[in-house]
Amino acid sequence: MALRSAGSGKVSRDAVHHPLFARCYARISVNAETRLGMGGVRDRLLAGLSGRVIEIGAGNGLNFAHYPSAVSEVVAIEPERLLRKLAVESALRAGVPVDVVPGAAEALPVKSEAFDAVVLSLVLCSVRDVPRALGEVRRVLRPGGVVRFFEHGRGGGRAMLLTQRALDRTVWPLVSGGCHVSRDPVAALREAGFELGPHRRVMMPEKGPVLPSSYCVLGTAWRPTEEQPG
Ligand SMILES: C[S@@+](CC[C@H](N)C(=O)[O-])C[C@H]1O[C@@H](n2cnc3c(N)ncnc32)[C@H](O)[C@@H]1O
Repeated sequence: MALRSAGSGKVSRDAVHHPLFARCYARISVNAETRLGMGGVRDRLLAGLSGRVIEIGAGNGLNFAHYPSAVSEVVAIEPERLLRKLAVESALRAGVPVDVVPGAAEALPVKSEAFDAVVLSLVLCSVRDVPRALGEVRRVLRPGGVVRFFEHGRGGGRAMLLTQRALDRTVWPLVSGGCHVSRDPVAALREAGFELGPHRRVMMPEKGPVLPSSYCVLGTAWRPTEEQPG
């Protein structure tokens, strides 16, 4: 199947260039698998998926080992060069076929309605244009297809939200590869026309200090089978 034929705009292969963050994330994320329980979260994120899946911003490929065997193929989009290289290595160890592809969420290099499921894990915080990225998610998902998401975003009380907003305007995106802590992924999915399914708050880390990035949500959404007239 021709995969790289239908992005909705021009975004370069290496649209994301955060080499220092990439090196740090590669190390921290592997520790988080066991020490913060991220491995268990990834199992819950992907349980029950089947068919053709596209994962957006796959990072170093830590989800790959958690895909159930009913998944026939994963297309893993990753714009950052070092993380993409590590994702290719992870793909070789995965139990399902994984094709790692350069690209960005805002212009996915794949055909429309080609996937049964889209996986978003810790990526909506980092994309440059959330509505455009979710428009692309909707385009590539078949009607009735599922979005599985694990994202962090705004949470806590007023003081925490003010802190999150202040961080987003100053240092946070600079030191964490373009990440933001005050976005609202559930509202963004709803505004992009997805039907929200079950979703629940997960604190990360589950125990211990509450950080501006701790407020996560794990859940499911669908592309409606019948589109609303725009
Ligand atoms: C915090 S990491 C999460 C990686 C992986 N999804 C995981 O669960 O470990 C954020 C990822 O989003 C990617 N990213 C940043 N901007 C992106 C964009 N515009 N389109 C797609 N991926 C993007 C980064 O390169 C990085 O791999």
